[in-house]
Amino acid sequence: MIREIKNGRLFFDGCDTVELAKKYGTPIYVMSQTDIESRFDELKRDFTDKYPNTRVAYASKAFCTVGMYKICEKNGISIDIVSLGELIAAEKAGFPAERIEFNGNNKLPAEIDKAVRYGVGRFIVDGLQELPLIEAAAEKYQKKVNVIIRITPGVAASTHDYIVTGKKDSKFGIPLDDDIFLPVVKQAIDSPWIEFLGLHMHIGSQLFENDAFIKALDVVMDHAAKIKEKFGVAIREVNFGGGFGVKYTDEVRKPYSFFLDPLMAELEKRSAEIGIERPAAVIEPGRSIVAEAGITLYTVGQIKDIPGLRKYVSIDGGMGDNIRVALYQAEYDAVIANKADAEATETVTVCGKCCESGDIILTDFKIPAGVEAGDILATFSTGAYGYSMASNYNNNPIPGVVLVKDGQSDWLVKPQTPEQIIQNNVVPDFI
Ligand SMILES: Cc1ncc(COP(=O)(O)O)c(C=O)c1O
Repeated sequence: MIREIKNGRLFFDGCDTVELAKKYGTPIYVMSQTDIESRFDELKRDFTDKYPNTRVAYASKAFCTVGMYKICEKNGISIDIVSLGELIAAEKAGFPAERIEFNGNNKLPAEIDKAVRYGVGRFIVDGLQELPLIEAAAEKYQKKVNVIIRITPGVAASTHDYIVTGKKDSKFGIPLDDDIFLPVVKQAIDSPWIEFLGLHMHIGSQLFENDAFIKALDVVMDHAAKIKEKFGVAIREVNFGGGFGVKYTDEVRKPYSFFLDPLMAELEKRSAEIGIERPAAVIEPGRSIVAEAGITLYTVGQIKDIPGLRKYVSIDGGMGDNIRVALYQAEYDAVIANKADAEATETVTVCGKCCESGDIILTDFKIPAGVEAGDILATFSTGAYGYSMASNYNNNPIPGVVLVKDGQSDWLVKPQTPEQIIQNNVVPDFI
């Protein structure tokens, strides 16, 4: 059990969270290595060991740190990156270049240059003007570059609008109109600097049904057939993307096999129909690897009881460390870590310290009666898109991240200082 209650306190991966708050300060993100590795074990058992020629590329946008890349490396996982910043973190971790896959709908020339020089394993092309930039860098460094092409499958997955990515009206993926899609594929096939490997899809995030995945894969395979027919080329790789749903409040998490078994069966079937060898299959899970592996610890400060209306409980963090509530009305579960076995009988709204009315973390949430300044609030499932989306709004420092494992703890990222926030500030002479 990653989460336990002992002596009225919340323990996380063997660590007393009240002691963690004392030792490391709050607000603080806490990540469980045991939980992260249990996801990798599940993927190994139900995907990469079960099906030959398969790969997991962790979508590091969900949570990117040098130490996280080390955990991926140690577990034989590849990584999906989308920026120079993520590439630099991978380089710092000594991450093997060939296991890096570069996504993104507007890769900058400098990012492409650096990634080709570093020797990343493949580019997932997601722009109509991207191939010439890759070719130029490939020629400059005299390296042939692996490429797969991300398509927009035109499938609407059922999730929040901001995390749907597979519908036709999307900034992601190459549109499938013949006069747009086929020239991009031809350009990749014809280029002496490019090794065209296959196709990529990613339909959205926080998904619990597998039918949209299958529909999207069918669109991918229809286009694999088209590529074979028009250019005589068999695709060798298909990337299913990520998006596997996690538990924040009352969602029921599905095992990876719920998505992957039918996808692999469909891939086998459609490959046989087209008359090509079953391509390599790759997934890019982000949220499902790290969301539930993370909690955030805060200290309660001011409490404002507005008679007949609402009781606001302020914490020392908020939208700066967790923008998901304001951004897409995300909901969380939480406990008072130092009163973890007390019955939750009082309804409060937990708000952050930023100057925005929308800086709310929990609305009408039940906690034990008698909450007071100094209590430690723990919010659950904050490991994905929390730290990675954190901001310095109000010049609040971004909290540190502590890694825990079987009762051990240490920094993964030290907290930012207020001085570091302003270190690049400049005062021009003409002021
Ligand atoms: C291309 C791509 N792959 C993978 C992911 C990871 O999705 P998730 O964190 O839902 O697994 C994303 C998320 O935005 C993405 O855009």
